[in-house]
Amino acid sequence: MWRSAIVRVAQLPWFRRLATQTPPGRAVASRFVAGETLAEAMAVARSLRDEGIASILDHLGENVETPVQALSAREAYLRALDAIADAGDLDGAIAVKLTQLGLDDALDVCWANLAPILDAAARSGARVMIDMESHPYVDATLSIAVRAHERYAGAGVAIQAYLMRTEGDAFELPPGCRVRLVKGAYLEPPDLVHRHKADVDVAFARLFTTLLQRGHPIDVATHDPGLIEGVRERVDALENGWSQVEFQMLYGVRRDLQAQLAGQGYPVRVYIPYGTEWYPYLTRRLAERPANLWFFVSNLMRTSR
Ligand code: FDA
Repeated sequence: MWRSAIVRVAQLPWFRRLATQTPPGRAVASRFVAGETLAEAMAVARSLRDEGIASILDHLGENVETPVQALSAREAYLRALDAIADAGDLDGAIAVKLTQLGLDDALDVCWANLAPILDAAARSGARVMIDMESHPYVDATLSIAVRAHERYAGAGVAIQAYLMRTEGDAFELPPGCRVRLVKGAYLEPPDLVHRHKADVDVAFARLFTTLLQRGHPIDVATHDPGLIEGVRERVDALENGWSQVEFQMLYGVRRDLQAQLAGQGYPVRVYIPYGTEWYPYLTRRLAERPANLWFFVSNLMRTSR
């Protein structure tokens, strides 16, 4: 209910203006977004590296409207891969959204933009993870992920525990393909998703078991302490389990937990979004937690006094 109300408010033009063009809006965004430039994202990646935390860079943008925008996203990712390679000892990766690479235009356009990114990543050895977007894109995303994994074994894809179809999709993933397991961040039709948090959590745990048994490298991408504890116990009990599983969290969310897990020697990677197109990403972060909206409103009230 909250998610749907917040997403609807965030889509109102006046709210978007407040969030993107006023200091309080930008203050909230800066909690979740590393900056508008690659240099700022790399600075965050380097400071995380010093804490023993790896990174995955996300050049923000989605649902581009022109081929030129898709091309410019591809160039941005090639620059990110260069920066990761130049940094030498940085364990970096990139996360791409297919609608940023032209998926709304055509599958072939998207593939033509993704393929050079995969080839550049293959040369440097950086991982390429394909984000999962809202439900109309799932089939296309999974089919492109299969092709991407064939072209470069370091390419993988995110799957969403809240979607009911995902438990079937998990059996169709290419063997050995890296999978990022998330709860799911989009406002979806109620008949397609598990509607209660408890059911999403059960699906997440079941999917983790499926992926583990099928031998996929797994990115456990959640800040949920209960799920993290369950995975920790399970993987600790396996011989070499941590070569197959890593924890991933978002920049600006549960910094304490990120540092704690890394300090205990668990593999942790932080998703670092950067770029100017941060509003849709911020909307999802606000919708995940009503307290974030309160943070935004209280900042607004403080600065307007
Ligand atoms: P849950 O929402 O239950 O939150 C657990 C706890 O985490 C909360 O109690 C709170 O403490 C903290 N928390 C969670 N979100 C917060 C926020 N926004 N602000 C402050 N605290 C917060 N989704 C998707 O659909 N496609 C994708 O490709 C990805 N990719 C992705 C990569 C990575 C690395 C992560 C961590 C997440 C994603 N997601 C995603 C987002 C994911 O689907 C989900 O919406 C968020 O991770 C929030 O859900 P949690 O699993 O953290 O659990």
